[in-house]
Amino acid sequence: MSKVSLAVNVGGLKLKNPVLTASGTFGFGLELLPYLELNQLGGVVVKGTTLQPRQGNPPPRLVETPAGLLNAIGLQNPGADYFLAEILPELRRHQTNFIVNISGNTVEEYGILAAKLSVPGVAALEVNISCPNVKAGGMVFGTDPALVAQVTRQVKSNTHLPVIVKLSPNVTDITAIARAAAESGADALSLINTLLGMAIDIYKRKPVLGSVTGGLSGPAVKPVAVRMVWQVAQAVKIPIIGMGGIVTVEDALEFILAGATAVAVGTGNFLNPRATIEIIQGLEKYCLDNGIADISELVGAAHISC
Ligand SMILES: Cc1cc2nc3c(=O)[nH]c(=O)nc-3n(C[C@H](O)[C@H](O)[C@H](O)COP(=O)(O)O)c2cc1C
Repeated sequence: MSKVSLAVNVGGLKLKNPVLTASGTFGFGLELLPYLELNQLGGVVVKGTTLQPRQGNPPPRLVETPAGLLNAIGLQNPGADYFLAEILPELRRHQTNFIVNISGNTVEEYGILAAKLSVPGVAALEVNISCPNVKAGGMVFGTDPALVAQVTRQVKSNTHLPVIVKLSPNVTDITAIARAAAESGADALSLINTLLGMAIDIYKRKPVLGSVTGGLSGPAVKPVAVRMVWQVAQAVKIPIIGMGGIVTVEDALEFILAGATAVAVGTGNFLNPRATIEIIQGLEKYCLDNGIADISELVGAAHISC
């Protein structure tokens, strides 16, 4: 039987298969080496990186709810200079795509980060717009189409790498945000980031998380994420990386059929550190079983009969 092609092109980023890891859930990739070979993955989206090192939020920062994981890590990371000096040389030993997820406090900071991180070994930039804009008084970048456009243009003008803008689901109309990013030059979009939530300890009568609210992820958010990928796929022409609750190959296929060219596994890595590998194998088997020669045939296929 002829071999299935799992290779995809996400806005100029060429992946050997469409399975990535979601930022913040896979460290820098090196932490997961006991469980899998990074070379097998389409790519690794590394931990969110900021210009300065960040300590993150006060603990507790993670809580399991009956339906999903709430996190309020607060972008803890060693900063861009440490990443470049200490981590990137280690990553360069592996034959996969490393995509750096960047977060800034201001539009200018995104530009500086983009320029700094556009070096050999970095395959693309994923722009996290779920952070508060210090200059705009703490308004989250990703909720205002005008700010999304500004950030996207700033990053694009400071890098030659493919620029993937990662959308927040905490908005009324995800398609307006998606269009703003696409019209400003984004090469691809990632969606979704976490949904704002909270949990209360009934015995202490206090919020569980040190920062009160946090981001909900895992299987609980999957239907919301699939819906948003579906809507955005009809609103823009650029490729989408879908994520939010992907644990199994069936989950990944839902996203692809909704219009995602690639998918990323986040919370699923905590449940099963080999989830990505099992999904890659499962995609190949699904294609073989269903006479699909190229995985791209499935992208958005659920839209055809609508
Ligand atoms: C512990 C944790 C840390 C995260 N850190 C980041 C981050 O630094 N940057 C980012 O863009 N998204 C971050 N995310 C969001 C994930 O990348 C992903 O978009 C989200 O969790 C939805 O996917 P999932 O349900 O598969 O986890 C984080 C999620 C978790 C659970």
